[in-house]
Order: sequence, then C-alpha cells, then structure tokens
Amino acid sequence: MAETFDLVIAGGTVALPWGLGETSIGVRAGRIAAFGVAAAAGAEVIDATGLHVLPGLIDAHVHLRDPGDRAVESIPSGTRAALLGGLAAVFDMPNTTPPLTDAARLATKQNYVAGAAWCDMGLYVGASRDNIAALAGLELGRGVCAVKVFAGSSTGNLLIEDDETLRRVMLSGRRRIAYHSEDEYRLRARRALFSTGDPYARHAEWRDPETAFLGTSRLMRLARETGRPAHIVHVSTAEEFAYLGDYRDIATCEVLVNHLTQIAPECYERLGAYAVMNPPIRDRRHVEAAWRAVNDGLVDSLGSDHAPHSREAKARPWPDTAAGLTGVQTLVPVMLDHVHHGRLSLPRMVDLLSAGPARVFGALSKGRIVRGYDADFTLVDLRRQQRIENEWIVSPCGWTPFAGMAVTGWPVMVVLRGAVAMRDGEVLGGPRGRLVHFRS
Ligand code: DOR
Repeated sequence: MAETFDLVIAGGTVALPWGLGETSIGVRAGRIAAFGVAAAAGAEVIDATGLHVLPGLIDAHVHLRDPGDRAVESIPSGTRAALLGGLAAVFDMPNTTPPLTDAARLATKQNYVAGAAWCDMGLYVGASRDNIAALAGLELGRGVCAVKVFAGSSTGNLLIEDDETLRRVMLSGRRRIAYHSEDEYRLRARRALFSTGDPYARHAEWRDPETAFLGTSRLMRLARETGRPAHIVHVSTAEEFAYLGDYRDIATCEVLVNHLTQIAPECYERLGAYAVMNPPIRDRRHVEAAWRAVNDGLVDSLGSDHAPHSREAKARPWPDTAAGLTGVQTLVPVMLDHVHHGRLSLPRMVDLLSAGPARVFGALSKGRIVRGYDADFTLVDLRRQQRIENEWIVSPCGWTPFAGMAVTGWPVMVVLRGAVAMRDGEVLGGPRGRLVHFRS
C-alpha cells in the first residue's frame, strides 16, 4: 500500500537548507516525514501554489511581560501576535515582574506555557547578583535557551555591570550567554549631560556608539579569558560589527529589524517616544554597517526585541519614557519587504530567522525543513501588498512603530508541528505551544 501522511503541503517553493526547491512535503505525527509525495497521499492537503514554504520562523528576542502587566502583553496575547506575524516560535526574555531568576519561577513559567502559549517558546533565565550559584542548574532547565545578562541597564532591574561579577557569571556554567551590551559606567557618567524633557533624539546621544562599543569590547575580553561562549544581542554600531569579526571563535551576534529599518534622526522626529529603545536607533552610517553585516554573514540571527509598553509609559518625558518597541507581529512582514526591495535574499532572511537562532542556542529539531524535524512551516506570499496598521496589532498595548508602512510580502499561514495554527490572518485551534528542546 502507498504511504499516507497526516498532511501534505504541495505546489509551493520550499526553502530547503540547500536551496529553494519545487517539492511537496509529507507530514506524519507532527514531523517532516518525506519529500516529493503525492498530494493524494495526505489526509489533509495544503495547496501552496504561488507560495513559498519556509521553516517555521523563530523570533529569538521577545519580552512578553508575563508575569507582569497583562494590559500591555501576556504569553497568550504575545504568542497569538507571533502566529499572526508568521512565527512558529519565540524565545522570551526574563525581565518580567518579577524577573525569571530562580527555579521556582522557572517551574511556574514552564508549567504555564503548556496551555497558555499559542506558538512554541524558549525561555531565557536572568542572571542577577544573587543567583550566580544557581545559574548552572537553571541554564539546563526544560525550555531554557540561554542565560541573559543585562550588562547595561534597561527595562526592569536586572543588571550586572562590573567585570568581576561578569567573570563569575561566565565561569558558572557552559552554555552560550546572551548579553545586553552597553557600558553602564559610561551611561551613568553621561546622564548629567542631559535634562529631563530633552528631545527624544538625545536618546541616541546619551547611549552613544562608544557606550555600545565599550560594553562589547569588555565582554569579548572576558569571554576569551573565561572561554565562555557569548551571544551579543541587538548589535547596533559599525564599530561593534567590525570588531566582532575577530571574535567568531567565541561570539555570535544578533541584529534587530528596527536597527535595519529606522534611521536617526528622522525616526525621532516622526515617531517621538515610539522610536526610543535600547540600544538606540542610530544614524545611516550604522544602519548601512548593519546591512553589510547581514549580507557578509557576520550576523547569526535576527530578532524583533518585541518590548511592549503602555501608551502612558511612552508618554513620559525623555529619558523617563519607557524604552522599547513592539515588533513580534511585524518582524516577518517588514523583513519580507526588505527582501522585495533586494536588501537581502529570501534564503538569507530564512537563515537569520530559523537555522541561525537554532544554531546559536542549540534548538533541537527546529529551524530547518529536513526529515525528522518538527513540521513547523511559515507560508509566505511574496507578492502580497499590505499596509501595517495599529488596528491589526493584537498585543493589548495596541501600537506598532511601523503603523502606516506599506509592505510587499506577507505571511499567510503558520503550521505548528503538523497542524495549521494561523491561516489568512486568523489564529486557529487552541494554545498548543510547547517548550522548545535545547542541546544541554
Ligand atoms: O528597548 C528595550 N526595551 N531594550 C531592552 O533591552 C529591554 C526592552 C524592554 O524590556 O522594554
């Protein structure tokens, strides 16, 4: 008897690890079972004619604020936003209220994800001055993608700024550590140069390129000394991109869609507080360097740094305005628009949002369309034109810095472990999200 499958995706152009191919995919028990199968062999068939079938895309940098303020964001709302935006998994940061820094809070979150999350999730554990002895155990927890260190202060109170304590964190375990890299001492010293109520564009002057470079060069020195692999998230300056090319033995890095898409000072004039994030959006020289780093392969992964805040928190005068921008729902559409304009190829975008983060964090059976891996797919229509609007945003905070942007290229379906989880702008089924498995 001929082989049968639970699902066959036929007629599309498939982003295989070795290139784009016209083939069909047979799915059984939530996993990729075979290629080149007959549509008739599927109990369910998805006609992907005219579409590109990508690996289920991953945003490895989101802040879903859960536990925290559910009027702003939560795991249910943020993971639904992820599906609508064409993502199959998100990795969630630990600067919640309270922060994710101990075994009890990790257990609570692990249990909560099953039943609350609509897409798959990885969890970062936060390093603090008080939990260093526990980090080696925490980093091996179920669903934990990495320890996160805020080496410069941002939203929340997680902070480890001095070399001695950073060294102790690095010596605590062995998996790759993700760093927010801005030099806290320089931030503090320069605060006095600015006044409350200054224009928003001063944000990029206060947290200047030297602040980011100092942070990254200090971390690289310590990473080499201790031998502990590092992942520098949201690299934002030309100087860091140049420097990191000499640290590929120990470091991987991430770039954010905002740092590729928005340009200072124009963004501060147009968006005001809705351009304020850490590290800041910078001028054209840095944006061009970020694109070069995308296209020469230096960058390993791409994230949104989805950081929802209430409109009230955004309305406070600078520098008290909340830093951070939403992005989990807009990451894929904005990047597809960059593909449309020829700023990067579709395979490069796919690599940065699937195999890249899977490699950085050691995610198992995710990020590639190969036999035996999870049957996670993002189907995109490269020709579809759409305008991003605040009304489309399902995060309760209700805004996006990309409101009004017309894009070409749109995610039209997400398949999560063999079941359709989003189709044509509608989330389907229930909260079926699970914790991603990571190499220990
Ligand atoms: O702008 C930011 N917002 N940068 C961060 O590092 C944290 C984030 C947040 O959680 O609001």
